Formats: sequence, C-alpha cells, structure tokens
Amino acid sequence: MVITLFILAALLLGILWLPNFGAGLTYHLFGISFFTECAFRKGPMVQLIGDNRAVIVWEACRADGDAQLKWNGAQEMQVPGIKLSYSKGTKASVYRAFLAGLPPGKSSYEIQSASSKSSRRYSIAIPPSDAGKLRVVVLGDNQSGYRTFGSMLPKIAATNPNLFLHVGDMVQTSYEDHDWQAYFFDPLRHSGLLSQVPFILTQGNHDMSDDKLAPYFPSLAQLPGRPIGYFYAITIGKTRFIVLDANTEDGDQVKWLERELQSEESLQADFRIVSTHIPPFIEFWNSKTWKKGEDQWPVYMRESMVPLFEEYHVDLVVSGHQHNYQRGQRNGVHYLITGGGGGALDQERVESLGVYQKTIIEHHFTLLDIDEEAIQITMRLKNGQIADRHDIKRKTHLA
Ligand SMILES: [Fe+2]
Repeated sequence: MVITLFILAALLLGILWLPNFGAGLTYHLFGISFFTECAFRKGPMVQLIGDNRAVIVWEACRADGDAQLKWNGAQEMQVPGIKLSYSKGTKASVYRAFLAGLPPGKSSYEIQSASSKSSRRYSIAIPPSDAGKLRVVVLGDNQSGYRTFGSMLPKIAATNPNLFLHVGDMVQTSYEDHDWQAYFFDPLRHSGLLSQVPFILTQGNHDMSDDKLAPYFPSLAQLPGRPIGYFYAITIGKTRFIVLDANTEDGDQVKWLERELQSEESLQADFRIVSTHIPPFIEFWNSKTWKKGEDQWPVYMRESMVPLFEEYHVDLVVSGHQHNYQRGQRNGVHYLITGGGGGALDQERVESLGVYQKTIIEHHFTLLDIDEEAIQITMRLKNGQIADRHDIKRKTHLA
C-alpha cells in the first residue's frame, strides 16, 4: 500500500523532475540528485586564446581522475582534473587541456574520462588563413536572461557561424555554479554550438576572475609569456582579433596593445577587430549608479586605448556591458555595442556623445560577415528579424 501511494505521488509530482541539462542525464527530485550515465556536466568547449593556441574545457559529472584527450588522433594528452565541490553537495572535476601549435582547419578530438571506458569524439573547424569568408557571431551580456539567450541560440546556430565572439558578462554571478550551468553552458549545449564552434571570450565585470571562476576560464598568466590579465590576440582567417580586459586597468595592457598593433600579424591583417567588454563610449545606463561613480568605468578604455585604436587604424571595436545596440564611428574607428544577449535592457540615456549613428534598445545578436573587401555588420532581433546592417570597407591606405 505504502509503495503504491509512493509511486502514485511520484507520478503526480513528475513535473518536479527538473532535468539538469548540463549533465543531460542528471535529475533532481525533492532536492535529491539522481545520476545516470553522464559524460560531461559542462562542455567541452574550445576556447581560442592566441595564435594556434586553445584551451579545451570540460567538466565531468562527478569527481574523477585524470582524463585523456587525443587531438586529431595523434597528440595525446593526460589532463589532470580539478576537483570541485558545489554547495548542493555535487562533486565534479573540471579539465583544461592547453594546446599549442594548433593547426587551423578541420580537426577532431576525443576525450576519454578516467572512470568511463567509453570515449567521446568531437569535430571542430578553425578557419584557415586563406579562408575567403568568415562569419562571426558577436553577443554579450546574456547574464541571467537565459530564456532570451536560449531562444536566440538556435537562430544563431542556423546561420552557421565560424566563430563565436562573446563580449563578456556570460553570467550574472561568477561564483555561482548554477549561473555557469543554467545560464551559459546548458543553453549553448542545447543549441549545438558549444562543441562545434570555436569561442573567443572577453571577460566582463560579471565574469571577474577568482578561484571559483578560474576552472572554466583560466588566467592566461598560466601560459608561458603571457602577462597577467585576460587579454590576447589571434588571427582567424585574415582578421586580427584583439581581446582586451576592461577589468585590468594597468599600463602593462596599454603597452601590450601598442606592441600588438605594431606587430606584423596586426599590420598585415585585412582587418583589426578589438573586443572589450566595457566600451569606451557609453550613453545608456542606470542614471543613479552612473552618477555614483560608474561613469568612470569607460574612462580607462577611452583615455588609454582609444588613441591607440585611432593611431594604428583599428577597424572595429566591439563591446557589451551596455544592454542594447549602438553602432557608430569616431575618427576612423567604428564602435559597436552589442550587449543585448539576454540581460535586462538599458533604456535610460545618461550621455550624448555624438559617436553613435544607430541605437536600438532590444535583445539581439550581431553577425560579422568578413571577406577581403568589407566587414558586413548585421544585427538581428531575438525573433531573427534584421534590424540594422552596415558595411565597413577595408582600409587601403595603410603603410
Ligand atoms: Fe558588464
């Protein structure tokens, strides 16, 4: 009798079985987690972190030992697990496999966990230097707006991007595992983008690195020759992507940027695109916090970096932080704010700087279609409708 009642109650309350999509096969019932066969709780995700360099990040569903990663069937790596304990009692291991000498083009990789006899194989394509065309999806500030973010990702996937450039604020609270799981990795996994597209990530103020964030986005200082801070540059196709860390306000990053913009890689690229979470020019924000000091947040970018953007002919600066869409131009440099990935929209105008020609206060994502002639910017609303389009012609006067 008791057993029958229990079964009936379980059936009636079946809706309480809330799938944890990150694991895919992990369920919660009455606060208790049930594990079935499960490969990865997060990832795998291929993050590009420099020329021919990447880190592949994944999290096992339980605390586990060393994993094996095989790249293109040849390069085999033993990857130590970083054991984590989450507040709800979940234990898991995060793995980071640093790869150098990564060849562009199509690759496959295979991950074998310590406790599972089966391995999983993935394929990914990194556009080569002779790629005639490149499609980059740019999005930022999804934060806790996972419904909007999740609804846009299938539309993004349908555009078949070669690269996903996130301009920061991937979560609301960087030290909450729930945020990373439910707001970031799960929606990306369900879209199919997570393991199929290489990512370039920009650190936002909500992603601020600490020990708890580090497993997913390791400090680049861990790599040989890297300065402290999450800034780096990488050539994809014929475009130089330069990622800056708006949270690291120091002179070393400024010196690094100048050296980078003077480098052959930067000078010989068809286009130079800078990504910085906090834009140099902000016009929409919360007026109360703006007056209480947040008006100072863009000053470092504006005063230290913008003169270099102008001197060294940066074509486009993409940003988030401000939750809407603005596109403009100033002294030969185009500025694009595309912070409509899901977080609550910024509706309140706090400045009029004369930089932007287009303002749209809607959730959205942006595509950059890059060929030898131009960067074509296409902004799509969350329903997929095109709301802005603009071409940035290639500069031909560079020395
Ligand atoms: Fe932000």
